[in-house]
Amino acid sequence: MKTLILYYTFGGSTKKEAERLAAELGAPLYRVREARNRSFLASFFPGAYLAMRRKAVTIRPLDIHLQDYDRIIIGCPVWAGYPAPAFNAVVELLPRGKEVELFFCSGGSGTQKSAQGTKELVEKKDCTVVSYRDIKTGVPPGKMKND
Ligand SMILES: Cc1cc2nc3c(=O)[nH]c(=O)nc-3n(C[C@H](O)[C@H](O)[C@H](O)COP(=O)(O)O)c2cc1C
Repeated sequence: MKTLILYYTFGGSTKKEAERLAAELGAPLYRVREARNRSFLASFFPGAYLAMRRKAVTIRPLDIHLQDYDRIIIGCPVWAGYPAPAFNAVVELLPRGKEVELFFCSGGSGTQKSAQGTKELVEKKDCTVVSYRDIKTGVPPGKMKND
């Protein structure tokens, strides 16, 4: 089974977890980036607001073929209890019929209020959510240096 790890990060902690997973699974890793460089202030507004409304943001074109993989692992930070809006852009690109694993990095509150809706978003793409993990990083909101 071919597995790909896709992740979006703002502060670097999702990147760390994605890299750990890539080493463990021997799977390729791909960083999803927003088309525009978001400031720390803009992660809250409009970022967190868009997350709560499950809106997608424009991401840089992916130069990999998602169709080539059977299982796609998606990692993303939690903003205001919801996946950061880059996640919604990734879900839009999912080909049908994939197995999807999700992990969400939050400071500590997790994704209790959004988890069910997030799984449904993926399932609407005719994909199967085979695993869902909340990772409580204890990392306060912040933007990765030199990014
Ligand atoms: C705009 C914004 C909103 C956040 N909202 C939450 C939240 O609702 N609950 C929480 O536990 N952490 C929240 N955090 C903290 C991040 O989820 C946490 O630091 C996570 O590890 C970040 O992952 P990253 O370093 O890959 O960006 C927020 C961070 C930002 C920037």
